[in-house]
Amino acid sequence: MAGAGDGDGRAVPVRGRVVLFPLPFQGHLSPMLQLAGALHARGVAATVLHTDYNAPDPAAHPEFAFVAVPSGAVSAALAAAPGDGIAKIMALNAAIEASGCARDALASVISGSAPPRPACLVIDAALPGAQKAAAELGLPTIVLHTGSAAAFRLFRSYAMLREKGYLPAKESELNRPIKEMPPLRVSDLFDPSKYFNEEMGNKILALSTETTTNSSGAVVNTFEALETPELQSVRDELGATIPVFAIGPLHKLSNNGDRSSLLEQDRSCIEWLDTKEPGSVLYVSFGSVVRVNQDDFTEVAWGLANSGRPFLWVVRPGLVAGSSGKPDLPDGFREAVEDRGKMVDWAPQAEVLAHHAVGGFWTHNGWNSTLESIFEGVLMLSRPSFGDQPVTARYVQETWRTGFLVEGKVERGKIEKAIRRLMEGEEAAEVKERADELKKQMLMCLEDGGSTQQAVDKLVDHILSL
Ligand code: UDX
Repeated sequence: MAGAGDGDGRAVPVRGRVVLFPLPFQGHLSPMLQLAGALHARGVAATVLHTDYNAPDPAAHPEFAFVAVPSGAVSAALAAAPGDGIAKIMALNAAIEASGCARDALASVISGSAPPRPACLVIDAALPGAQKAAAELGLPTIVLHTGSAAAFRLFRSYAMLREKGYLPAKESELNRPIKEMPPLRVSDLFDPSKYFNEEMGNKILALSTETTTNSSGAVVNTFEALETPELQSVRDELGATIPVFAIGPLHKLSNNGDRSSLLEQDRSCIEWLDTKEPGSVLYVSFGSVVRVNQDDFTEVAWGLANSGRPFLWVVRPGLVAGSSGKPDLPDGFREAVEDRGKMVDWAPQAEVLAHHAVGGFWTHNGWNSTLESIFEGVLMLSRPSFGDQPVTARYVQETWRTGFLVEGKVERGKIEKAIRRLMEGEEAAEVKERADELKKQMLMCLEDGGSTQQAVDKLVDHILSL
């Protein structure tokens, strides 16, 4: 390969080479490929290791090399794991370690690459199995945190949370503020003692701390102005030997955007949005993994219908727990909403959020969705489900104040009211002002010389020094 290319067709001389191993889930795969794109644009060639499960499409990313890990063992372990993401992540790591498949794939990439030799393996923070493979081959690792700095800090703080009595969470203390980590409350914490397998719950929490501690650096998909104290506190804890690079929002740093979508995006919703008034539409999506129960699904549907607002709703196959198929909409729902409501299996989300007709986003606050929403200055109605999502939702409401949380039981009347609060009246206008301000800060970090651009330069220098 003569040059790494900068995405505009101009060749950039290859200054270095990295191998990357994403976790095979949409919310983790996209930022890893975006990171690969950002490195590639600065002359660092990228080889992406992947499993057969949720494999990326090499044809969509001709700028990278792709190597499938021989993953029969991984596929079998994933198929045997319960539907829940935590069990799948644990099974994936165990299979990678036991089968040696990542080590073998990595060894073949190292021996088969044209010079320069790969400087490091960039892993998802939840992939210690891959990190061990790199260590066996003497290759350093850089860890990508696909969530917020707040979540990164929180997951490192569980010993303190237990010591101070926040956990195990008591029913009567769910509203208790965590004074060491404002604005969080006890109800925002993942509590392993409430998870169906407590031991597994504890193990998943420890993964990102383990991988970070054993790494040569941590990359976080955030920007300095968004999470200043949170970044400071992880830096204080990790010290100079594990530098932390805040290089978000990754989806704007590299132009491979929607090309990493694992599902086909239904573009008919863009034409539908074109017919709607500016700022009038509520976009509703709960990301790629959240599942809701049938009752909540029905309440969401009628809440949307009764709000009187136009809405675009991603009704993903498998969204309703207990079925992997297309959810059935309630009887009479389509007739009630007519052209005011549009349902799609999967949307071109970044483009939807950028559309002038979209005025609000009802989200589960997956970190990618949150950054995409902040970038477009779109207000958020937050209904988090698990993991880092409740943390992010709390920040949306209390710290950035660019949206509202919908808490407690899902009921159509409550949803209708929340939608009106978000999209009509004085309070909504104030929230919109703050969202526009935050968007400005995000744009600034992406400018030449902005904090994110500087962090990518430092990351590249760091990689080349390993
Ligand atoms: C998961 C976790 O749930 C989340 O909490 C964590 O922060 C990242 O990993 P996911 O639930 O899929 O991710 O949410 P999110 O992080 O928001 O990522 C979803 C991605 O899919 C976004 O980039 C979004 O643009 C994209 N998407 C979503 C589409 O392209 N089309 C859609 O219809 C919906």
